[in-house]
Amino acid sequence: MNDAATDMVAFAESCPLGQFSPMHPALLKCPYGMNQRLHREAPVYQDPASGIYFVSRYDDVVAMAMDHETFSSVLPGGGTGSMATEDPELAAIMKEGWPNVSTMLTQDPPLQRRYRKFVDQAFSPASLKALEPFIAQTSHELIDKFIERGHCEFLSEFGVPLPLTVIASQLGTPLSDLPLLRKWTGAFIGNLSQQLDREGTLQAARDILEFQHYFVARMEERRREPKNDILSKVVNASIDGEKPLDDAECLSMLSQILVAGNETTSSALTEGIWLLIRHPEQYQIIRDDPSTENIHALVEEVLRISSPSANMFRRATRDVELGGVTIPANAICFARFGAANQDAERFERPLEFDIRRGNLREHVAFGKGVHHCLGAALSRREMNIAFKVLFQRIENFRMAPGAPEPEFAANALLHGLQGLEIAFDPVAKA
Ligand code: HEM
Repeated sequence: MNDAATDMVAFAESCPLGQFSPMHPALLKCPYGMNQRLHREAPVYQDPASGIYFVSRYDDVVAMAMDHETFSSVLPGGGTGSMATEDPELAAIMKEGWPNVSTMLTQDPPLQRRYRKFVDQAFSPASLKALEPFIAQTSHELIDKFIERGHCEFLSEFGVPLPLTVIASQLGTPLSDLPLLRKWTGAFIGNLSQQLDREGTLQAARDILEFQHYFVARMEERRREPKNDILSKVVNASIDGEKPLDDAECLSMLSQILVAGNETTSSALTEGIWLLIRHPEQYQIIRDDPSTENIHALVEEVLRISSPSANMFRRATRDVELGGVTIPANAICFARFGAANQDAERFERPLEFDIRRGNLREHVAFGKGVHHCLGAALSRREMNIAFKVLFQRIENFRMAPGAPEPEFAANALLHGLQGLEIAFDPVAKA
């Protein structure tokens, strides 16, 4: 971080309450000290800049997530992005596409449950079991590309392509289109970040338009000729004789699966390697015994510490008291899953990376309640397999000589590293 960012992080830890905005880019990147302070002094804190209520304690975040009647996921504008507009140029781009409709993540029960039913089966244990060899094979193929070099940029060479390849194969898009999927994911993430300038917003809208036209064409193909993929399931699904989903609904579902299906897992994998590099004693536990149990524990602790889906929006449907604060009806709130995972009341020494902690699985990195992550089992499986293959093939993970200190991206909802330059040794063949 530069000096100004470091100053802001220190300021938020000590200034009078009400004087810092958790949406400041420096605090989105480095929220740890601020989170500890909010837990102690202001578990429900209204951001003076945006007016958003930041809910940070574990018990309060869980209470919010479990009470979807009071804390709705339907926002004005129909989504979590910032696509509602009065900008004529932006409006002209959006007019060429399909409207932003609320489905799973941005919808409330009973409609939210209805949308989930169309795709739940694709993420069932049986479907995921069948995917395991593909995840392992893809992990090996990615490692083959950089192992001889002895160094790599882990995010772009492994963290991103693994989940992207897996979700593309599930969706049913050709692997040759991975660069397009990556570009469109970036556009959706850019919108969520709430940090785009006007040109960035216009470019994101153009990319999302391209995403829509691409997928509507694929959807038409699947209506004519269904295959065994999520695209076919989404476009042809008709539960209990209901009419199938329309194009805008399908696009909303597909974009959620695409974005949630790769960005978050990429972040967790990448931060996992960084955590091991910074905590040699934890890495040693895995090196001494890379058993399924230890890798499983590693995955859960990485999910807790990294919490890639750090904040999620909710809208209060009525005046409600939480953490001693009255949140007024229609206020926008953040359920801060990342901050909840750092709550000392729930996790002893919360900022320590400790794969031996007793309550590993109590983290809420995948949310809680009706919106509990659709892809939780998939990403757990990806992470377990990926780490296993990585430890079989590579040892002595370390920062690449002269590598810059890794930095997190400033994003209102997601928390992930922007890159990770590492060096390593190939495991000697027996
Ligand atoms: C480390 C990886 C992941 C993390 C940390 C994560 C986190 C989350 C969280 C916190 C929620 C709840 C949001 C809320 O309460 O508003 C959620 C929901 C969701 N996730 Fe994930 N996720 C991950 C991977 C995936 C994958 C691989 C998929 C792909 C299928 C996925 C698809 C979704 C969808 C569609 C929802 C909305 C479900 C609903 O509202 O019914 N996620 N995820």
